[in-house]
Amino acid sequence: MDISQISEKLSEAGQHHVLQFWQELSAAEQSEMFHDLESMNFKEINHFFHNAMKVSSHGHQEKIDERMGPVPREVLGSVTRDKEMLREWEEEGLLQISQSKVAVLLLAGGQGTRLGVSYPKGMYDVGLPSHKTLFQIQAERILKLESLAKERFKKKCCIPWYIMTSGRTMESTKEFFEQHGYFGLNKNNVIFFQQGMLPAMTFEGKLILERKGKVSMAPDGNGGLYRALGSQKIVDDMETRGIGHIHVYCVDNILVKVADPSFIGFCIKKKADCGAKVVEKTNPTEPVGVVCKVDGRYQVVEYSEITLATAEKRSADGRLMFNAGNICNHFFSMAFLKNIVQIYEPQLQHHVAQKKIPYVDAQGQLIKPDKPNGIKMEKFVFDIFQFAKTFVVFEVLREDEFSPLKNADSQDGKDNPTTARHALMSLHHRWVLNAGGHFIDENGTRIPAIPSSRSGPAATGISNVNQNLKDVTDLPIKCEISPLVSYAGESLEFIKDHEFRSPLIVDEKGIHEMVKNGV
Ligand code: UD1
Repeated sequence: MDISQISEKLSEAGQHHVLQFWQELSAAEQSEMFHDLESMNFKEINHFFHNAMKVSSHGHQEKIDERMGPVPREVLGSVTRDKEMLREWEEEGLLQISQSKVAVLLLAGGQGTRLGVSYPKGMYDVGLPSHKTLFQIQAERILKLESLAKERFKKKCCIPWYIMTSGRTMESTKEFFEQHGYFGLNKNNVIFFQQGMLPAMTFEGKLILERKGKVSMAPDGNGGLYRALGSQKIVDDMETRGIGHIHVYCVDNILVKVADPSFIGFCIKKKADCGAKVVEKTNPTEPVGVVCKVDGRYQVVEYSEITLATAEKRSADGRLMFNAGNICNHFFSMAFLKNIVQIYEPQLQHHVAQKKIPYVDAQGQLIKPDKPNGIKMEKFVFDIFQFAKTFVVFEVLREDEFSPLKNADSQDGKDNPTTARHALMSLHHRWVLNAGGHFIDENGTRIPAIPSSRSGPAATGISNVNQNLKDVTDLPIKCEISPLVSYAGESLEFIKDHEFRSPLIVDEKGIHEMVKNGV
């Protein structure tokens, strides 16, 4: 272990201070620090810092508002406005799945800071009757979709699941999958890979030490995906498997329709190389990014990047002008993704997030700042929309598809384990009603509900099961249907005319807690 070369490189880059405690470190600490520093390119990091700071200056933020325009109608598809097309889109998506041409890619490298857990978010149990974790729910949706596609096209197929982790989440994520037997999936079709990390820096561009022998590091944002896809040969793996379309999504949405055939089919039918799923943003202060155009090019502008005045702008119909709420569900064609990884990735700029970063001072004391003292640099997954030749947007219903887990329960009551649990149970309650089932209270009286008048099933009934339903209850009835039984409300005919008492669990072993058969 020769630190002199690294020391020289640090000096050249104006970062030599990170070795100020080197002599005090134990052999093990020196070895760990050596290993960390060895893999860093300090000149490149400085370059990232200067570019990121240039872009994030105040003036730029003001200008973004002025340069923004809404998504034009012609690129929009909608589960409510385009009901007659859903069957065709879904059929196309299922066909591609049945040919094993569709892969899903999970972004799971985040640190879950707001949720306040030290383990990966996908391992979180929001307290459903089954106590399934987010990873398990997603795995079972993949399994169900494979079997729906097989049933429909009489072809055994597989949906490879690529899971991006980070330095902090890789080992625990892999272990969790091992412990749970990959939730029934074939281990060879679950592919883990790791995104890069970048150091935290002061506003002056100096690396920050979190311990005497450790530079403070953080994952390089979910847009770190593209670099990792290249460096870890994931694109090659996709090509070898004959993948043509990729659904990318984030880990925290309990309602996520993994590899949603209608979204995939819609994008394919529109010949899109890139697509985004959105829900209507109705509250200007909701913390979601909005899909829009900036200088004529597609982009997501994060809630933190626009002024309230812009967020509150309304169109003539009274809706928010920037209402295409990004739910972090993206479609890429294989050719597009390959171009991004091989050509465009270096052009993506890092975004700057100002943070309170614990650090050791010159005396070696650990300081926990009470205001931001530095930055983390991140690329964003949607920063590549600008390179799409044909970009489309697919609007879905929030109550069917979006309930993210961001915060701990004790916080402001939004996007937390309780809201996620309620969203899932309320959706499944509506599935039961749509399938002709009923809930009764402790006296045996039917709980009033307003079931949908279904306008006819789609190919497998996946797409439009809930389209006409109103919200049925304030506090949800405890009702959970295993994804192994139903992907999106289909395959529930056996429930018709049965009465149930909450809590109800329907899983592959049968109906539990059912009180009465037939009415
Ligand atoms: C994200 C979207 C936002 C959208 C919102 C919806 C981005 C950059 N922003 O915001 O537009 O409205 O979801 O819920 O996509 N992740 C990594 N590596 C990282 C950082 C994050 O894999 O370095 C993953 C997380 O594990 C998560 C996803 O990316 O699955 C989203 O990250 P998060 O930080 O939760 O994004 P939001 O700010 O909530």
